Amino acid sequence: MSSHMDMRFGKPGTETHIATGLTVRRGKSRFSLPSPSPGVIPYVMMNERPSALMQVCSLKRSFHGVRALSGASLDVRSGTITALIGPNGAGKTTAFNCISGVVPPEAGTVVFDGKDITGLTPDRIHAHGVVRSFQIARGFPTLTVLETLLLHGETQPGEHMLTALFRPGTARAREAELVDRAHHVAHRLKLGHVLENLTNALSGGQKKLLEIGRALMAQPRMILLDEPVAGVNPTLASEIAGRIQQLRDEDDLTFLIVEHDMDIVARICDPVIVMSNGTTLMQGSFDEIASDARVQDAYLGKRA
Ligand SMILES: Nc1ncnc2c1ncn2[C@@H]1O[C@H](COP(=O)(O)OP(=O)(O)O)[C@@H](O)[C@H]1O
Ligand SMILES: [Mg+2]
Repeated sequence: MSSHMDMRFGKPGTETHIATGLTVRRGKSRFSLPSPSPGVIPYVMMNERPSALMQVCSLKRSFHGVRALSGASLDVRSGTITALIGPNGAGKTTAFNCISGVVPPEAGTVVFDGKDITGLTPDRIHAHGVVRSFQIARGFPTLTVLETLLLHGETQPGEHMLTALFRPGTARAREAELVDRAHHVAHRLKLGHVLENLTNALSGGQKKLLEIGRALMAQPRMILLDEPVAGVNPTLASEIAGRIQQLRDEDDLTFLIVEHDMDIVARICDPVIVMSNGTTLMQGSFDEIASDARVQDAYLGKRA
């Protein structure tokens, strides 16, 4: 076994040890990936990427006895737009929720840039540089684009309030910095001309871009996007895809994307990771996964 596979992430009193990629030991609890189905090579054995920016290992999560994730493992390399695809119910959104801290996993680990972020709150995970986008809620129509962006740049409102009370000069400087950031983000997404518009007056495509903009306000290193082009026409979808590529290339960002639009996945995502039945089935280029019988079976609902 080569030494690069033997990694430790230290928290006092606990040990996370990925020796073979198949077993994770953490404190006293120990669990393994379930036995692979016949013909399915365990994901982690096919795809050892020790240099990955994010390493997700053996995530498990159930809801009221329904197993949404049964040992999902995936890596995201720095500078990629990695896609997570799979049929409805495969566990993609649950994986996103576990990674971003919205729903804590029952087992498994999420390591970002060498640090164990498993089960932290979304705020703490933000602070590590991992942010997920949420759809612009319909109940939020009275905010302008600028206000929406400012709202999401303020990560520690309590601290900000105290600063405003006791150190008003610092608070003003911080507010000015946030406004600058909001302008910068809006211009990156070609939303500069609608900063004063109400969010409910935006087009569908602009709303999608604003969802990305909200995530950018947190100054992340990695962004998780759940269906960034869902519900927009092909021309706009293509434009949004171009913006995502531009952010990856020019702003040094890494993306993990759940998307059903296979034209967009084929165009901008590499690698593509396929989920099925709560686990990650395989990873490859779009052409590799599209021609794989196991992937076709998963989409058709058949067993490999
Ligand atoms: N909050 C929840 N309560 C109950 N069941 C859930 C919940 N979230 C997800 N599930 C179930 O977990 C499975 C995976 O769902 P999900 O992660 O949304 O899949 P995907 O995003 O790939 O469509 C589905 O069977 C779904 O019904
Ligand atoms: Mg989903």
